[in-house]
Amino acid sequence: MDERLNGLVIPRHISVILDGNGRWAKKRGLPRKSGHIEGCKALEQILEDAARMGVGYFSVYAFSTENWKRSEDEVTALMNLFRYYGKKLLKVATANNIRVLMIGDKSRFAKDIIESIERLIDSTKDNTGMTFIMAANYGSRDEIVRGTKKLLEDYKAGKFEIDELSEDMISSYLDTAGIPDPDLLIRTSGEQRLSNFLLWQLAYSEFYFPEVLWPDFNKDELIKAIQQYNKRDRRFGGVK
Ligand code: FPP
Repeated sequence: MDERLNGLVIPRHISVILDGNGRWAKKRGLPRKSGHIEGCKALEQILEDAARMGVGYFSVYAFSTENWKRSEDEVTALMNLFRYYGKKLLKVATANNIRVLMIGDKSRFAKDIIESIERLIDSTKDNTGMTFIMAANYGSRDEIVRGTKKLLEDYKAGKFEIDELSEDMISSYLDTAGIPDPDLLIRTSGEQRLSNFLLWQLAYSEFYFPEVLWPDFNKDELIKAIQQYNKRDRRFGGVK
């Protein structure tokens, strides 16, 4: 274990909005897709680092419901990354005992991508180390609408009374059912927005916005984020 982490609380769930791939590429005169490829490499390494540090859950915003509006060229490049990196991620997950889950609406992806995601989830389901949650075709409002539809169907079927509805019940209808809420949200590249990511789940999380662009995010940056997290006075709205 890195001695910089001695005595620090490791957040149980770290969530990351991977931002800045395009700017990373532009700075080097490269096409945007090169930034996404480097972003995938950074992700692979950080998954291994986080798993070794004892992080329980690591979630990333890999592709939002809004990302379909990008140029056809860029969407195709991102889809190809899902194809190629599915296999690569399986190797990383297997080597590091990582279980993979996906949140988001996968029905819009091509059949072979859905199969590759399902293979990744199924092949890692018995891994007992860190859980990696990949948000793909994910949007928090979309998740809330899909969850509410299921909830209303169950209500219509008489499965519960209105007075029984609770926060825990609503959580159980979201894609993240069973996953603890993030303790720490990191958005790279200096942007300070949630962009429709985990709106319900981030209610009490600490936010950290480093300037570093995602492809340059590494173990040192992750340690800095955890150090910052440890400096925060965690409050939950109640008196401490
Ligand atoms: C944001 O950078 C990044 C994305 C929209 C995509 C992130 C996706 C990956 C790194 C691939 C993950 C893939 C798998 C298979 C897990 P940006 O393009 O918005 O950067 P910019 O703001 O600098 O233009």
